[in-house]
Amino acid sequence: MLSLRKVTFEDWPLLLEWRNDEETRNNSHTTALVAEESHKNWLKHALEDSGKQLYIAEEDEIPVGTVRADFDEALNDYLLSWTTSPDARGKGTGKRMVKTLVDLLNTRIRAEIKSGNTASVKIAEFAGLTLKKEDNRVLYFSNY
Ligand SMILES: CC(C)(COP(=O)(O)OP(=O)(O)OC[C@H]1O[C@@H](n2cnc3c(N)ncnc32)[C@H](O)[C@@H]1OP(=O)(O)O)[C@@H](O)C(=O)NCCC(=O)NCCS
Repeated sequence: MLSLRKVTFEDWPLLLEWRNDEETRNNSHTTALVAEESHKNWLKHALEDSGKQLYIAEEDEIPVGTVRADFDEALNDYLLSWTTSPDARGKGTGKRMVKTLVDLLNTRIRAEIKSGNTASVKIAEFAGLTLKKEDNRVLYFSNY
């Protein structure tokens, strides 16, 4: 069964490995490789930021993905972003992981997905988000 736990600083190597995976980079707003020091610095600040919630999804205690919710004060919603472990892809991990967090937060959620990221579109729809607009090859989904 899939469960979510909060990220701790000790998760940095795993998160860096997933962040620098080629498919993840291609589907991110920033596609460059992330260096270890800047990743650690980012994670340290993210964990101190009360507006950010970072989770690791685990299946039988094995980490299978990560999902993050960033609170947006102006819109009063959470922007979600997600990545699954390359080993765990194509098995419904993304769908279950993101829906679990959307159900847990039970509030206004949105996601930005690059056009052509079919798997993420299906994940967003499975979690109850619908497409609101497309701009500059980015799809804007929300549940409100
Ligand atoms: C996108 C990503 C999160 C998908 O995770 P996943 O665990 O493989 O997704 P799921 O197994 O839950 O699949 C969701 C749906 O997409 C389909 N799918 C999975 N990989 C696919 C692919 N490469 N191309 C087309 N469809 C795909 C699945 O068959 C499933 O469809 P279904 O609902 O009809 O059964 C994962 O590939 C990833 O981390 N990619 C890099 C980072 C990224 O793109 N993050 C999202 C930014 S918005």
